[in-house]
Amino acid sequence: MIPKACMTVLFVLLLAQAHANTEKVIFVSPPAASITTSGPSFEQLHLPSITPKKSSLRLSLPAAFPSEKQPRGLDTWYMLRNLNPSQRYEVRVCWAATQPTNFWLDVYNTSHVFDTPDLIQSLATFSEAQQTDERTQSTGSGAPKESLLFLHVQASADFFSTNRTLMSSPPAVDVELILDPYLANAVPRSLLPTAVYVVALAVGSWILSGMIWKRLFSSTNKPHTD
Ligand SMILES: *[C@@H]1O[C@H](CO)[C@@H](O)[C@H](O)[C@H]1NC(C)=O
Ligand SMILES: *[C@@H]1O[C@H](CO)[C@@H](O)[C@H](O)[C@H]1NC(C)=O
Repeated sequence: MIPKACMTVLFVLLLAQAHANTEKVIFVSPPAASITTSGPSFEQLHLPSITPKKSSLRLSLPAAFPSEKQPRGLDTWYMLRNLNPSQRYEVRVCWAATQPTNFWLDVYNTSHVFDTPDLIQSLATFSEAQQTDERTQSTGSGAPKESLLFLHVQASADFFSTNRTLMSSPPAVDVELILDPYLANAVPRSLLPTAVYVVALAVGSWILSGMIWKRLFSSTNKPHTD
């Protein structure tokens, strides 16, 4: 059985989803692993990074209609760095409902990316395109050991228009990527005020319904006791 308070929190989550379009991935960060100081460094990949301190990125993401070669549209890559080891997090992408897009979010550890040909190829293609973009600054921690993950985002346009220009090159989508740690590995931090409110409401209504039941019970019982 799911506790009632949990159900209510889930319901609120669903409501929140209706207002802004969001897609998310929930994961537990890996243990801190040593970063090789010799050889190629993660900075050289020129991937935008998200850290607990700089936990959101506003971006204009390229999108494409799904094709046989790219069934999930266009790929972009990010690094999630300086994570607290073994902590539950979620990464959300939020975008305006006026820009209909399908998003897929995946997080992978380093070895998973480097051992999977499709992933490393996609990452390399994106990284190469970033090299020419001077604006992208990767921020490393400088620490010899770090808990980090790769974030893979795929965006495919999801609309139909009679406008040929729009159909041949869908406009970029304005998005916000947000890294949100879970408190006690149970509730996303950004949801805490809502969760506290909902739990207070649930407890309050439980007490109230108990009082109402008691009154009903005692009033219906009265004739018998008289
Ligand atoms: C990386 O991820 C893969 C697949 O999820 C998992 O099997 C593996 O144990 C992970 N490696 C490390 C070092 O965490
Ligand atoms: C098609 O869309 C583009 C981009 O929004 C716009 O500039 C153009 O005027 C539109 N063309 C027509 C025929 O509506």
